[in-house]
Amino acid sequence: MGAFHGMSLGSLSITSNNSMRESAGVSLDNVTFIPFNSTFNGMDTILYMEQLLTDTHSGVEKPAAIILETVQAEGGINIADTEWLRDLRQLCNDHDILLIIDDIQVGCGRVGSFFSFERAGIVPDMVVLSKSISGYGLPMSLLLLKPELDIWGPGEHNGTFRGNQLAFVAAKAALEFRDTVGLEAQVKEKEAFVQQFLREQIQTMDPLIAIRGLGLIWGIDVSHQGEAFAKEVATLCFKNGLIIERAGRNDTVIKIMPALTISLENLRKGCNIIKESMVQVSSTLVAL
Ligand SMILES: Cc1ncc(COP(=O)(O)O)c(C=O)c1O
Repeated sequence: MGAFHGMSLGSLSITSNNSMRESAGVSLDNVTFIPFNSTFNGMDTILYMEQLLTDTHSGVEKPAAIILETVQAEGGINIADTEWLRDLRQLCNDHDILLIIDDIQVGCGRVGSFFSFERAGIVPDMVVLSKSISGYGLPMSLLLLKPELDIWGPGEHNGTFRGNQLAFVAAKAALEFRDTVGLEAQVKEKEAFVQQFLREQIQTMDPLIAIRGLGLIWGIDVSHQGEAFAKEVATLCFKNGLIIERAGRNDTVIKIMPALTISLENLRKGCNIIKESMVQVSSTLVAL
């Protein structure tokens, strides 16, 4: 629940946003959605899955795989606890279920380490990568899988945009660049800046604002102020020169996701635009 995996039919079937699912135009079957993270309204979600898998009257068939984002990005920057990720890996081992991590948005160094699941010390059976894997948004995506799971014949899964040579060259250069400039350390430094800025400059504006993030993906959760507030802030940011996306339930999480190579100066500028926009929208609403 809260997952976004894409808009093609297979991906949409494992995406939980109901309004997006409606765009399929056909029924999306064979998927069971489970609450994200260790507890959900007090429920132990691992125990819940264990019960679904072992109760012969659960009505749920054993799945081929469990797929998740370790940080739900479009879902509102929801961060899975490392212990939950390890328990989930164990649950998959115990029941012979494949664990697939969708690292399309939070892989490739977004949270600091190259893969987002490294912080939990787990090894998935399959990993999906795309977006910045080619370094600059060139068309490229990868499915990493354990060799024993590779049952594809050569060219069996083909298509027009497969094997884009320019993207392959760019991806190799991007991986080398990552090491040359020490991108992981850079992300850690910028993470510290954003975290401090959000704690000191944003959270202090209103104790009900929740701040969540890792590396260079952060969310300002203003769900208590509602969708109109979040939309106004994003609109004002845009007028002030900053493109910012909204995520989460009712689009009430303002999402900070700069290029990993952003300068500290630009990062500070962007954060200040968010702060000024939030102050301005709050004061307009008070005046109304
Ligand atoms: C986590 C995640 N998975 C999948 C996708 C979709 O990827 P694609 O556009 O390559 O289908 C996205 C796109 O935003 C994403 O964030």
